[in-house]
Amino acid sequence: MTTSPDVIDYEGSGYRTDFWEGKGRDYEDQTERVAIRRLLPPTGKRLLELGAGFGRLTREYDGYEQVILLDYSTTLLREAQQQLGRDDHFVYAAANIYQLPINEGVCDAATMIRVIHHFADVPAALQQIRSTLAPGGVFILEFANKRNLKAVARYLLRRQDWNPFDREPVEFVKLNFDFHPAYMLDTLKDAGFTPEKQLSLSYLRLGVLKRVVPTGILVGIDSLLQHTASLGTYSPSVFTRNIATGNEPPALLDGPIFKCPACGEASLNEETDRMACQNCGKQWAIEDGIYNFKEPL
Ligand SMILES: C[S@@+](CC[C@H](N)C(=O)[O-])C[C@H]1O[C@@H](n2cnc3c(N)ncnc32)[C@H](O)[C@@H]1O
Repeated sequence: MTTSPDVIDYEGSGYRTDFWEGKGRDYEDQTERVAIRRLLPPTGKRLLELGAGFGRLTREYDGYEQVILLDYSTTLLREAQQQLGRDDHFVYAAANIYQLPINEGVCDAATMIRVIHHFADVPAALQQIRSTLAPGGVFILEFANKRNLKAVARYLLRRQDWNPFDREPVEFVKLNFDFHPAYMLDTLKDAGFTPEKQLSLSYLRLGVLKRVVPTGILVGIDSLLQHTASLGTYSPSVFTRNIATGNEPPALLDGPIFKCPACGEASLNEETDRMACQNCGKQWAIEDGIYNFKEPL
């Protein structure tokens, strides 16, 4: 396999219980659902959820005939599977987004929420994602915005050394990046997407507000503020809707999902406990309903 940039490891992570459940983040969770409902076509054929984690948002995609939950962490995928079940509607794949095992043009939608902030090489990741989508397919991307009001204020007060107006990504903790909106939109275009719409989220993400104001009211106000993105994005989180451009052959939405991530061979032989590549001979485990493309057997 070609070498991948560093990947953050959520294997064995308690992300669900340490970060979400009972951790006072209902405001963030609910506003993200509002944004998804606003941006994503409600129905479709096959949606690829990139960095799906424990499937927190997967039920938002119930209008799609099939949902592929893809994540580098088998721990989190297993939690998702326990919650969502094991029927053909959900496909679970452990894989690296930098080396996607998904055939070209087999999806008509993709989402990636709270994930790209872990990527040192955004162009490489976006090119991989673009290739999985049929022309006209929709990609909902959330990113952490370095040009947010708090960062601007801290910079102006000289309490932060990096410049929020500078276009380059800032790595504030190892493998945690904030991005300038212009950088992200230009990189999306370079990867073969047409950015269509943005929403500004989480302007009200302040401990004191979340403690004092009922969540429903915060969510209501946030839902109005989301639309201010057309005037300028200064919120900590930005949701974007992007359309896959290009003149590839007609979509293969009914074709086989998986390709070999090592050599790119488009057809794999599925056996009971493995997928076998007829071209390079590599074999990839199927473990209790999770296709594992992280390392060959
Ligand atoms: C902060 S969590 C977000 C999970 C989910 N999207 C949510 O909002 O609840 C980030 C997720 O991205 C996954 N991830 C990070 N880098 C990845 C990569 N290169 N390939 C696949 N998954 C990756 C992690 O394993 C983790 O589950």
